[in-house]
Amino acid sequence: MVQVNDNYQKLPGSYLFSTIAKKVAAFAEANPDKEVIRLGIGDVTQPLVPAVVAAMHRAVDEMADAATFHGYAPDLGYEFLRSVIAKQDYQDRGCDIQKDEIFVSDGAKSDSGNIQEIFSNDLKIAVTDPVYPVYVDSNVMAGRCGEYNAKEQTWSNVIYMPCTRENGFVPELPKETPGIIYLCFPNNPTGTTITKAQLQEWVDYANWTGAVIIYDAAYEAYITEPDVAHSIYECAGADTCAIEIRSFSKNAGFTGVRLGFTVVPKALVRGGVSLHAMWARRHGTKYNGAPYIIQRAGEAVYSKEGRAQLKEQVAFYMKNAAVIKEGLSAAGYEVYGGVNAPYIWLKTPGNMSSWEFFDDLLARANVVGTPGSGFGPSGEGYFRLTAFGSYENTKAALARIQAL
Ligand code: MLT
Repeated sequence: MVQVNDNYQKLPGSYLFSTIAKKVAAFAEANPDKEVIRLGIGDVTQPLVPAVVAAMHRAVDEMADAATFHGYAPDLGYEFLRSVIAKQDYQDRGCDIQKDEIFVSDGAKSDSGNIQEIFSNDLKIAVTDPVYPVYVDSNVMAGRCGEYNAKEQTWSNVIYMPCTRENGFVPELPKETPGIIYLCFPNNPTGTTITKAQLQEWVDYANWTGAVIIYDAAYEAYITEPDVAHSIYECAGADTCAIEIRSFSKNAGFTGVRLGFTVVPKALVRGGVSLHAMWARRHGTKYNGAPYIIQRAGEAVYSKEGRAQLKEQVAFYMKNAAVIKEGLSAAGYEVYGGVNAPYIWLKTPGNMSSWEFFDDLLARANVVGTPGSGFGPSGEGYFRLTAFGSYENTKAALARIQAL
């Protein structure tokens, strides 16, 4: 009899957003007359900008002609995309990152789930709590997290770093030294962030202890405050302790297009082994490269027109964030985030649990959000709303919440 990977059996329930989708589908079926507004999963709603669409059309035409057709993409990404990323996202910000340190992929979710593969199963991971579920779940699948305590909603072999209103959503350095530290700033789910000086402390800590930081910067386009780093490589010494993961989903609306990249600096070495070489080996073996058409679309994100159009798109979503933030505050809610991120994190009223509030909001306002406890134990009593809806839906949702 074949044996399955038992670690999968340890995972509680289904993936958070699948659970929510099922609940919402059941509600919609039972209440066909109700118009549900979805501010749950962080999925974008605005169309691709014209510069991106034009680039995709051009690339499709190239694929239709034998003279310009492209087969397999280079597994680490096309030169044209890697060089523009290295220049605009890093060198122009004073970060010494070279194009051959960029690994193009089909998105930040896959990379953040896969990156743990290059590390030993014996190490312990540290995560902020609440946290994007992929970091923990992918480590559970690999057998790195120990046993699940359903009551506490914690894993025995994971270091949790609570981020709550009590500590201003700023994680403290862990007492026990982890092997891998997952950080995501601006943060999903809390929508809060830390300053560049605070991030520098994490870089210094990782270099001191030998830990590796997996830095998820998927929301960097939403940063509005000057003292927040757009990349961890703005911090001195990050190239010897950090891997950075980026997405085109939130800054360019590519959730359905799929494109992202991971930066593994050549200077990042552990136990005498280059993590850059390991990730290149892994990528080359398991991945055949993001499609040519999509990489051309990604290149257009960095064009003059693309940048201007996307600046407007990000501003559009941030206007929604302001509507949510101000609307909730006016209705007496305690609200966080929404200044450097498209997520608003609110304290549930009274002593309501996150899921009780989810059910209540769905039933009475027909608005979908994400229960904070789905992101970890310290998310209990909190709730996330996304600014990625349309302006009309966002306004309507807030009017309904205010009327409760
Ligand atoms: C979220 O809602 O947290 C995000 O959409 C998840 C993701 O980007 O995969």
